[in-house]
Amino acid sequence: MFEYKSYKDVDLKGKKVLIRPDINLNIDIENNKIRESPRIHALIPSLNELKDSAVVVMAHQSRPGAKDFTSLELHAGEIRKLLDRPVKYVDDVFGEKAVQAIKDLKTGEVLVLNNVRTWDTENKQFKDFAEAEKLEMIQTLAPLFDYFIADAFGAAHRAQPSIIGWPTLLAGPTTVKEFEYMSKILENPGRPMVMLIGGAKAIDKFIAMEYNFDNERLDYALCSGLTALLILEAIGINTGEPNRKVIAKDLEKEQERIKATYKKYKDKIILPKDLIIDDNGNRKVVAVDEIGKYNAVAGDIGPKTTEEFKEIMLKAKTIIANGPPGIFEQEVFRKGTFDMAEIMAEVSKNKGALTVIGG
Ligand code: 3PG
Ligand code: MG
Repeated sequence: MFEYKSYKDVDLKGKKVLIRPDINLNIDIENNKIRESPRIHALIPSLNELKDSAVVVMAHQSRPGAKDFTSLELHAGEIRKLLDRPVKYVDDVFGEKAVQAIKDLKTGEVLVLNNVRTWDTENKQFKDFAEAEKLEMIQTLAPLFDYFIADAFGAAHRAQPSIIGWPTLLAGPTTVKEFEYMSKILENPGRPMVMLIGGAKAIDKFIAMEYNFDNERLDYALCSGLTALLILEAIGINTGEPNRKVIAKDLEKEQERIKATYKKYKDKIILPKDLIIDDNGNRKVVAVDEIGKYNAVAGDIGPKTTEEFKEIMLKAKTIIANGPPGIFEQEVFRKGTFDMAEIMAEVSKNKGALTVIGG
């Protein structure tokens, strides 16, 4: 399905390589601490595959203007903890300091560069690969490397210079693994195909859902999280101020589109019947048409919704999950996400379904 050259197709021994992973992390900025580092843990086996090369890591953290838009120093420290070879860090992306550190790097060593999104142009998307290749960062760094390894599968949908600009790209270990699973889903997926949608980035996920319906790839979309709130508001259900404000921008821009798509696929888009609000640390179940009255964050799906989602998942042959149904970081909003995870484990283990959890 995907034609690509991977890191396995070349001899990397003694070569200088640049790897571009997705190590965008959940950082507690007040305490300058990493909350969770699953993406760093996933990077370690990739770096181990490259142990006979001099490896430079280029990556991003968050977006300019966001609270957790910070340097990659913490990331480098975490890699250092987990990897048993030297890991250096340079507070620069492609200036003199970075260039010198790259030139000095020896086989068996790893060098982490600073957050590539500190370079303004990185935050733009480029339609044309050749155009991206002409940019200053690529022109400065490309001659210093033998190979460029594209391993940021979680950011591969961003046509930004560090993702697409290098003269040639080899798929890295993470990308290869993801391609293999995605090929199964795209080539000959088991039906019914079900998407579980949750978490943030409401409109992005709505568009992905719409695309899959339009291309007849999808049988059901189980909507939770901010995408559910966005659709509910778009079709005229008042979810209350605290919920509306987080999707307000998307709603203002795309309400007509959302309404039209919802109308078209009404029987296949499953919206929550009930939601959970925090009642002094207890889970209070609220029917969806009542939620507006409470003026409280709807942080999880309720039991009726879970039941309906479960019924559909039990019949699925393919499930793609994109985002958690609730704000699972908070105890009170955890149950829906854990219930869904258990059902997905159950259908993949005992019913032969393929489940892919993205994001
Ligand atoms: C992610 O964490 O989802 C990826 O790193 C992409 O981040 P972005 O949505 O800020 O481009
Ligand atoms: Mg993402």
